Amino acid sequence: MRREQTLADRITGSAVWRSVVRHGYPDTQRNQALIIASNVFLHIHPVKIKRYATKVTYTFCLGGLSFFMFLVLTMTGVLLMFYYVPSTDQAYQNMRDIESSVTFGQLMRNMHRWSAQGMVIAVFLHMSRVFFTGSYKPPREFNWVVGVLLLVVTFLLSFTGYLLPWDQLAFWAITVGTEIGGAAPLLGDRVAFLLRGDYQIGQSTLIRFYTLHVIFLPLVAAFLMAVHFWRIRKDGGISGPL
Ligand code: HEM
Repeated sequence: MRREQTLADRITGSAVWRSVVRHGYPDTQRNQALIIASNVFLHIHPVKIKRYATKVTYTFCLGGLSFFMFLVLTMTGVLLMFYYVPSTDQAYQNMRDIESSVTFGQLMRNMHRWSAQGMVIAVFLHMSRVFFTGSYKPPREFNWVVGVLLLVVTFLLSFTGYLLPWDQLAFWAITVGTEIGGAAPLLGDRVAFLLRGDYQIGQSTLIRFYTLHVIFLPLVAAFLMAVHFWRIRKDGGISGPL
């Protein structure tokens, strides 16, 4: 007897559905593996992992939390960009408006600020965990170096973002920061000029920091994270008891 074709049958049987959902329901190990391996978002996780790698108290998921905060920062940062203009005349007022007049503006700004601080803490704790479990040893020494670069980029993202509200705290913090660069032997003056784009902090500095903060450094961080995650996989997954 022929079963009547339901709407669900027609949708799941259509060419459009099959072009997106390539494999059937994940009810067999083979289908589960195929779904993970063929999906751009899911394939970040390996199809199989060692049992010890599921122990939360080994990593405390600190690397994962760092990545999660980076995603939150990217999303809230893009939303803030709809209202923020990197101009010395407007930046401070824009930031006040985001807090007081923009729908969910205060929430977005606070999420951005808290996640920025959380990311610095999480990355630092993650690095400490990797150190204390000896996970920097071969074959993971290259990934440790990638991690150090990620740490530097995280600090630079934090530092460049600090100037953007263009309030007194920002202005003087970046004055101190760029003067530290200026104290470098021999090249000091050039370093300070390179950071500020001028002899003093002003419009050139703001646009420089803004471009680094919203485009250059996030792209570098995303690239390094891709390499970092790829290396974890190639080094045999998370380190564990030998
Ligand atoms: C934005 C910064 C970073 C992100 C998003 C990140 C992400 C991750 C993730 C998700 C893991 C998997 C294990 C876990 O969650 O602990 C991991 C492992 C690892 N990370 Fe990072 N990481 C970052 C920074 C660093 C830093 C600063 C270092 C060291 C200087 C580092 C060195 C390593 C090493 C060696 C492993 C392999 C650990 C093992 O096999 O036990 N990472 N990272």
